[in-house]
Amino acid sequence: MLKIGTLSLPDPLVLAPLAGISSLPFRILNRQFGCTLAFSEMICARSMVYASKRTKKMLRTAPGDRPWGIQLLSNDLDDLAKAIDLLGGYEFDILDFNAACPQKKVAARGKGAALLKDPKKLQSLLELMVKKSEVAVTAKIRIGWDDSRSAVDIALRAQDAGISALFVHGRTKEQGYRGGVDYLAIKKIKDALSIPVIASGDILSVKLAKKMFDETGCDGLLLARGVLGNPWLTGQIKEFLKSGEIINRPSIDDIVKIMIVHLDLSIDFYGERSGIIKFSKFFIWYTRGFAGAKPLRAKVAKTKSRQNMIDLIEEFSCKCINCNFLKIC
Ligand SMILES: Cc1cc2nc3c(=O)[nH]c(=O)nc-3n(C[C@H](O)[C@H](O)[C@H](O)COP(=O)(O)O)c2cc1C
Repeated sequence: MLKIGTLSLPDPLVLAPLAGISSLPFRILNRQFGCTLAFSEMICARSMVYASKRTKKMLRTAPGDRPWGIQLLSNDLDDLAKAIDLLGGYEFDILDFNAACPQKKVAARGKGAALLKDPKKLQSLLELMVKKSEVAVTAKIRIGWDDSRSAVDIALRAQDAGISALFVHGRTKEQGYRGGVDYLAIKKIKDALSIPVIASGDILSVKLAKKMFDETGCDGLLLARGVLGNPWLTGQIKEFLKSGEIINRPSIDDIVKIMIVHLDLSIDFYGERSGIIKFSKFFIWYTRGFAGAKPLRAKVAKTKSRQNMIDLIEEFSCKCINCNFLKIC
């Protein structure tokens, strides 16, 4: 059981905030495999004020999408305060703060991971959130800007601000998404804090999930790239935590069914044209590593209707069966 504020989650497996990815269809799909808490992609506090169509879409939820958290990005107390006021009209269960994004355009404006260089400011932003928010506040950090020397200090300041849990990506800003995860740095944070610490970084398999728990003692895991085209990973980890067994990935027939469910969720939410475009990158992820799937990927970009996409999914299925369901990697 993972407790965050008043929320009690039956499993310690959380779906990560993923910019451009963690929309409502993605969250709904992943919940079917056992993610008990999910997040929006990061939302810039200032963009809340303009309430663009895109931002409003990011804030949409549905009855089957709870509990869920909204992640804000900001480096300005006024913007943040206004954004929290504006969120008063929305339903959500956790408010998360992004101090982890390494993107140049974000960090150059002093937001995201740039706040790791200014722990005092990070603390004051979090204090404001805790003061104004009606739901539990959490924060997501990396272990540092270019090394992990300040990791524990940053984490303690976040805890002192009154947050209910801390998400820690075990890489520095300089690493981006490459290079090894620093398990020891996450462990040091876990050992120093009394609030739950949820670890992030290379949760790509059951084995790596176990490694993260074993080496850091963390309270939960954040699933990110590992579930792209592989949403059943959460179910595999969940089963492993329960019984110690590693269950097989679904059969090709079941993968095809999952792909069609995902496609339809995407079309329902975005409409046929945009839904297909959004699903295309998932088609590539679902078919990654399967022998014979490569030529299909070129066709995906030209697909314009649901039926065309279904035809491609079926072609993928036939190729897999002919290749004896061979996954190369
Ligand atoms: C495409 C992409 C988008 C991401 N967007 C966000 C985001 O909006 N907010 C955030 O806190 N982290 C974001 N992350 C970081 C992930 O939540 C996660 O911490 C990171 O990918 C490390 O986990 P992994 O190695 O298991 O993928 C993003 C990562 C990727 C690959």
